[in-house]
Amino acid sequence: MRNLNANNITDAVIEEFSGCRDERLKTILNSLVTHLHAFLREVEPTEQEWTEAIDFLTRTGQMCDDQRQEFILLSDTLGVTMLVDALNHQTSDPMVSESTVLGPFYVPDPPQASQGESIDWNVEGEPFLVEGRVHDELGQPLANVVVDVWQSDSEGFYDVQKELESASLRARFTTDDQGRYAFWTVTPAPYPIPTDGPVGKMLEITGRHPYRPAHVHFMLMAEGFDTLVTQVFAEDDPYLDSDAVFGVKDSLVKEYKLLPPGRAPDGRAMEVPFRHLTYDFGLKASR
Ligand SMILES: [Fe+2]
Repeated sequence: MRNLNANNITDAVIEEFSGCRDERLKTILNSLVTHLHAFLREVEPTEQEWTEAIDFLTRTGQMCDDQRQEFILLSDTLGVTMLVDALNHQTSDPMVSESTVLGPFYVPDPPQASQGESIDWNVEGEPFLVEGRVHDELGQPLANVVVDVWQSDSEGFYDVQKELESASLRARFTTDDQGRYAFWTVTPAPYPIPTDGPVGKMLEITGRHPYRPAHVHFMLMAEGFDTLVTQVFAEDDPYLDSDAVFGVKDSLVKEYKLLPPGRAPDGRAMEVPFRHLTYDFGLKASR
Protein backbone atom coordinates (compact mmCIF):
# COMPACT_ATOMS: atom_id res chain seq x y z
CA MET A 1 0.00 0.00 0.00
CA ARG A 2 2.32 2.68 -1.29
CA ASN A 3 2.43 5.14 -4.13
CA LEU A 4 -1.28 5.79 -3.86
CA ASN A 5 -2.85 8.27 -6.24
CA ALA A 6 -6.24 9.62 -7.22
CA ASN A 7 -6.94 6.47 -9.19
CA ASN A 8 -6.10 3.75 -6.69
CA ILE A 9 -6.53 5.25 -3.21
CA THR A 10 -10.25 4.43 -3.04
CA ASP A 11 -9.63 0.70 -3.45
CA ALA A 12 -6.81 0.84 -0.91
CA VAL A 13 -9.04 2.41 1.75
CA ILE A 14 -11.86 -0.06 1.09
CA GLU A 15 -9.35 -2.92 1.36
CA GLU A 16 -8.35 -1.67 4.81
CA PHE A 17 -11.96 -2.13 5.96
CA SER A 18 -12.13 -5.67 4.59
CA GLY A 19 -11.53 -7.16 8.03
CA CYS A 20 -14.55 -5.45 9.55
CA ARG A 21 -16.67 -8.23 11.08
CA ASP A 22 -19.86 -6.18 11.07
CA GLU A 23 -21.08 -6.74 7.50
CA ARG A 24 -23.59 -3.88 7.60
CA LEU A 25 -20.97 -1.45 8.89
CA LYS A 26 -18.52 -2.64 6.24
CA THR A 27 -21.11 -2.09 3.50
CA ILE A 28 -21.83 1.41 4.78
CA LEU A 29 -18.15 2.37 5.05
CA ASN A 30 -17.30 0.97 1.63
CA SER A 31 -20.09 2.99 0.09
CA LEU A 32 -19.18 6.10 2.07
CA VAL A 33 -15.55 5.95 0.91
CA THR A 34 -16.59 5.23 -2.68
CA HIS A 35 -19.02 8.13 -2.89
CA LEU A 36 -16.96 10.58 -0.83
CA HIS A 37 -13.90 9.98 -3.01
CA ALA A 38 -16.01 10.28 -6.17
CA PHE A 39 -17.43 13.56 -4.87
CA LEU A 40 -13.92 14.89 -4.31
CA ARG A 41 -12.71 13.77 -7.73
CA GLU A 42 -15.66 15.61 -9.26
CA VAL A 43 -15.33 18.80 -7.22
CA GLU A 44 -11.53 18.86 -7.00
CA PRO A 45 -11.42 21.05 -3.87
CA THR A 46 -8.39 23.21 -3.25
CA GLU A 47 -6.64 22.56 0.06
CA GLN A 48 -8.00 25.90 1.24
CA GLU A 49 -11.55 24.79 0.41
CA TRP A 50 -11.04 21.49 2.22
CA THR A 51 -9.80 23.31 5.30
CA GLU A 52 -12.91 25.50 5.18
CA ALA A 53 -15.10 22.40 4.88
CA ILE A 54 -13.49 20.85 7.98
CA ASP A 55 -13.89 24.16 9.77
CA PHE A 56 -17.59 24.29 8.82
CA LEU A 57 -18.19 20.83 10.27
CA THR A 58 -16.17 21.70 13.37
CA ARG A 59 -18.29 24.81 13.98
CA THR A 60 -21.44 22.77 13.36
CA GLY A 61 -20.42 20.39 16.14
CA GLN A 62 -19.38 23.17 18.46
CA MET A 63 -22.82 24.78 18.04
CA CYS A 64 -24.49 21.69 19.50
CA ASP A 65 -25.50 21.29 23.13
CA ASP A 66 -28.44 19.68 24.94
CA GLN A 67 -30.85 22.29 23.54
CA ARG A 68 -29.34 23.03 20.14
CA GLN A 69 -28.65 20.45 17.44
CA GLU A 70 -26.92 22.09 14.49
CA PHE A 71 -26.22 18.75 12.78
CA ILE A 72 -29.96 18.03 12.59
CA LEU A 73 -30.40 21.45 10.98
CA LEU A 74 -27.65 20.64 8.51
CA SER A 75 -29.23 17.31 7.66
CA ASP A 76 -32.65 18.97 7.36
CA THR A 77 -31.53 21.84 5.13
CA LEU A 78 -29.60 19.52 2.81
CA GLY A 79 -32.73 17.40 2.31
CA VAL A 80 -30.98 14.43 3.92
CA THR A 81 -33.49 14.04 6.74
CA MET A 82 -36.42 13.88 4.32
CA LEU A 83 -34.53 11.43 2.10
CA VAL A 84 -33.95 9.13 5.08
CA ASP A 85 -37.62 9.56 6.00
CA ALA A 86 -38.72 8.71 2.46
CA LEU A 87 -36.53 5.61 2.36
CA ASN A 88 -37.90 4.36 5.67
CA HIS A 89 -41.55 5.35 5.64
CA GLN A 90 -42.95 4.98 2.16
CA THR A 91 -46.67 4.45 2.41
CA SER A 92 -49.30 4.35 -0.29
CA ASP A 93 -52.02 3.39 2.18
CA PRO A 94 -54.30 6.40 2.66
CA MET A 95 -55.25 4.98 6.08
CA VAL A 96 -51.66 5.45 7.28
CA SER A 97 -50.49 8.98 8.01
CA GLU A 98 -47.37 10.29 6.34
CA SER A 99 -44.29 11.16 8.35
CA THR A 100 -41.95 14.12 8.15
CA VAL A 101 -38.90 15.56 9.91
CA LEU A 102 -38.51 15.40 13.69
CA GLY A 103 -36.70 18.73 13.71
CA PRO A 104 -34.29 19.99 16.34
CA PHE A 105 -36.80 21.05 19.02
CA TYR A 106 -38.17 17.75 20.32
CA VAL A 107 -37.54 17.23 24.03
CA PRO A 108 -38.07 13.66 25.29
CA ASP A 109 -40.56 13.05 28.11
CA PRO A 110 -42.60 16.27 27.86
CA PRO A 111 -45.08 17.16 30.64
CA GLN A 112 -48.10 14.84 30.79
CA ALA A 113 -51.35 16.68 30.10
CA SER A 114 -54.95 15.58 30.18
CA GLN A 115 -57.56 15.52 27.42
CA GLY A 116 -58.65 19.03 26.47
CA GLU A 117 -56.04 20.77 28.61
CA SER A 118 -54.37 24.04 27.61
CA ILE A 119 -50.63 23.77 27.08
CA ASP A 120 -50.03 27.49 26.52
CA TRP A 121 -48.23 27.77 29.85
CA ASN A 122 -46.52 31.18 30.18
CA VAL A 123 -47.20 32.21 26.58
CA GLU A 124 -49.84 34.37 24.95
CA GLY A 125 -51.36 34.10 21.52
CA GLU A 126 -54.44 33.36 19.50
CA PRO A 127 -56.30 30.42 21.11
CA PHE A 128 -56.12 27.25 19.04
CA LEU A 129 -58.07 24.05 19.61
CA VAL A 130 -56.39 20.97 18.15
CA GLU A 131 -58.18 17.64 18.19
CA GLY A 132 -58.69 14.42 16.32
CA ARG A 133 -58.67 10.66 16.41
CA VAL A 134 -55.98 8.04 16.10
CA HIS A 135 -56.87 4.85 14.24
CA ASP A 136 -55.28 1.73 12.79
CA GLU A 137 -55.07 0.76 9.11
CA LEU A 138 -58.68 -0.39 9.18
CA GLY A 139 -59.93 2.83 10.74
CA GLN A 140 -60.50 1.28 14.17
CA PRO A 141 -59.86 3.73 17.03
CA LEU A 142 -56.68 3.21 19.00
CA ALA A 143 -56.83 3.86 22.73
CA ASN A 144 -53.83 4.62 24.94
CA VAL A 145 -51.69 5.96 22.12
CA VAL A 146 -49.03 8.29 23.51
CA VAL A 147 -49.29 11.58 21.58
CA ASP A 148 -46.41 14.01 22.08
CA VAL A 149 -47.01 17.47 20.66
CA TRP A 150 -44.70 20.45 20.37
CA GLN A 151 -44.83 23.70 18.46
CA SER A 152 -43.65 27.28 18.23
CA ASP A 153 -45.47 30.20 19.81
CA SER A 154 -47.23 32.92 17.83
CA GLU A 155 -43.89 34.64 17.23
CA GLY A 156 -42.28 31.48 15.93
CA PHE A 157 -40.20 30.54 18.97
CA TYR A 158 -40.06 27.25 20.85
CA ASP A 159 -39.88 27.21 24.64
CA VAL A 160 -36.28 25.96 24.53
CA GLN A 161 -35.32 29.09 22.58
CA LYS A 162 -36.67 31.35 25.31
CA GLU A 163 -35.80 31.87 28.96
CA LEU A 164 -38.90 30.10 30.28
CA GLU A 165 -38.82 28.47 33.70
CA SER A 166 -40.69 25.42 32.49
CA ALA A 167 -41.88 23.69 29.35
CA SER A 168 -44.56 25.32 27.24
CA LEU A 169 -46.38 24.42 24.03
CA ARG A 170 -45.14 20.87 24.40
CA ALA A 171 -46.94 18.06 26.18
CA ARG A 172 -47.79 14.37 26.20
CA PHE A 173 -51.37 13.17 25.79
CA THR A 174 -52.87 9.72 25.78
CA THR A 175 -55.78 8.87 23.50
CA ASP A 176 -59.06 7.91 25.18
CA ASP A 177 -61.05 4.76 24.44
CA GLN A 178 -62.42 6.37 21.26
CA GLY A 179 -58.88 7.09 20.10
CA ARG A 180 -59.37 10.82 20.63
CA TYR A 181 -56.87 13.48 21.60
CA ALA A 182 -57.60 17.18 22.18
CA PHE A 183 -55.77 20.18 23.54
CA TRP A 184 -55.79 23.96 23.55
CA THR A 185 -52.71 25.86 22.55
CA VAL A 186 -51.89 29.04 20.63
CA THR A 187 -51.71 29.29 16.87
CA PRO A 188 -48.11 28.65 15.78
CA ALA A 189 -46.39 31.02 13.37
CA PRO A 190 -44.05 30.38 10.45
CA TYR A 191 -40.52 30.68 11.77
CA PRO A 192 -36.94 30.79 10.58
CA ILE A 193 -34.78 27.87 11.64
CA PRO A 194 -31.96 29.18 13.88
CA THR A 195 -29.70 31.29 11.67
CA ASP A 196 -26.98 32.23 14.16
CA GLY A 197 -24.85 29.16 13.39
CA PRO A 198 -23.00 27.72 10.39
CA VAL A 199 -26.19 26.33 8.82
CA GLY A 200 -27.77 29.80 8.87
CA LYS A 201 -24.62 31.15 7.26
CA MET A 202 -24.85 28.50 4.55
CA LEU A 203 -28.45 29.51 3.77
CA GLU A 204 -27.51 33.19 3.71
CA ILE A 205 -24.58 32.94 1.35
CA THR A 206 -26.49 30.63 -0.98
CA GLY A 207 -29.51 32.95 -1.18
CA ARG A 208 -31.91 30.58 0.58
CA HIS A 209 -34.50 31.79 3.11
CA PRO A 210 -34.61 29.98 6.47
CA TYR A 211 -38.41 29.82 6.95
CA ARG A 212 -40.64 26.89 7.76
CA PRO A 213 -44.42 27.09 7.29
CA ALA A 214 -46.47 27.15 10.53
CA HIS A 215 -46.95 23.65 11.92
CA VAL A 216 -47.64 21.54 14.97
CA HIS A 217 -45.31 18.60 15.59
CA PHE A 218 -46.66 15.20 16.59
CA MET A 219 -45.04 11.97 17.69
CA LEU A 220 -47.41 9.05 18.16
CA MET A 221 -46.30 5.91 19.95
CA ALA A 222 -48.34 2.75 20.52
CA GLU A 223 -47.47 -0.84 21.32
CA GLY A 224 -47.48 -2.94 18.13
CA PHE A 225 -47.39 0.07 15.78
CA ASP A 226 -44.64 1.99 14.05
CA THR A 227 -43.91 5.27 15.79
CA LEU A 228 -45.18 8.15 13.68
CA VAL A 229 -43.19 11.39 13.64
CA THR A 230 -45.00 14.06 11.71
CA GLN A 231 -46.29 17.64 11.50
CA VAL A 232 -49.56 19.27 10.47
CA PHE A 233 -49.13 22.47 8.46
CA ALA A 234 -51.42 25.50 8.16
CA GLU A 235 -53.18 25.49 4.80
CA ASP A 236 -52.77 29.20 4.02
CA ASP A 237 -49.10 29.46 4.91
CA PRO A 238 -46.88 31.35 2.41
CA TYR A 239 -43.93 28.97 2.94
CA LEU A 240 -45.64 25.66 2.12
CA ASP A 241 -43.82 25.44 -1.22
CA SER A 242 -40.41 26.57 -0.01
CA ASP A 243 -40.00 24.93 3.41
CA ALA A 244 -36.33 25.33 4.37
CA VAL A 245 -36.20 21.67 5.42
CA PHE A 246 -38.30 20.17 2.57
CA GLY A 247 -40.80 18.65 5.01
CA VAL A 248 -44.23 19.52 3.54
CA LYS A 249 -46.51 16.81 2.12
CA ASP A 250 -50.04 17.49 0.82
CA SER A 251 -51.61 15.03 3.25
CA LEU A 252 -50.15 16.98 6.17
CA VAL A 253 -51.64 20.35 5.17
CA LYS A 254 -54.93 21.28 6.81
CA GLU A 255 -56.93 24.43 7.48
CA TYR A 256 -56.40 26.07 10.85
CA LYS A 257 -59.99 27.29 10.76
CA LEU A 258 -60.65 30.76 12.17
CA LEU A 259 -63.86 30.82 14.23
CA PRO A 260 -65.67 33.77 15.84
CA PRO A 261 -66.17 34.18 19.60
CA GLY A 262 -68.81 31.88 21.02
CA ARG A 263 -69.09 28.25 22.02
CA ALA A 264 -66.05 26.23 20.92
CA PRO A 265 -66.51 22.68 19.59
CA ASP A 266 -65.48 21.28 23.00
CA GLY A 267 -67.99 23.49 24.82
CA ARG A 268 -65.57 26.13 26.01
CA ALA A 269 -66.98 29.67 25.99
CA MET A 270 -64.70 31.84 23.88
CA GLU A 271 -64.69 35.63 24.15
CA VAL A 272 -62.18 36.12 21.35
CA PRO A 273 -61.78 34.61 17.86
CA PHE A 274 -59.90 31.32 17.88
CA ARG A 275 -58.69 28.67 15.48
CA HIS A 276 -59.62 25.02 15.20
CA LEU A 277 -57.72 22.14 13.64
CA THR A 278 -59.13 18.65 13.35
CA TYR A 279 -56.65 16.02 12.24
CA ASP A 280 -56.92 12.24 12.38
CA PHE A 281 -53.85 10.01 12.37
CA GLY A 282 -53.56 6.48 11.03
CA LEU A 283 -50.85 4.24 12.47
CA LYS A 284 -49.24 1.30 10.70
CA ALA A 285 -48.94 -2.01 12.50
CA SER A 286 -45.32 -3.05 13.11
CA ARG A 287 -44.29 -5.95 10.91
FE1 LIG B 1 -41.03 22.97 14.12
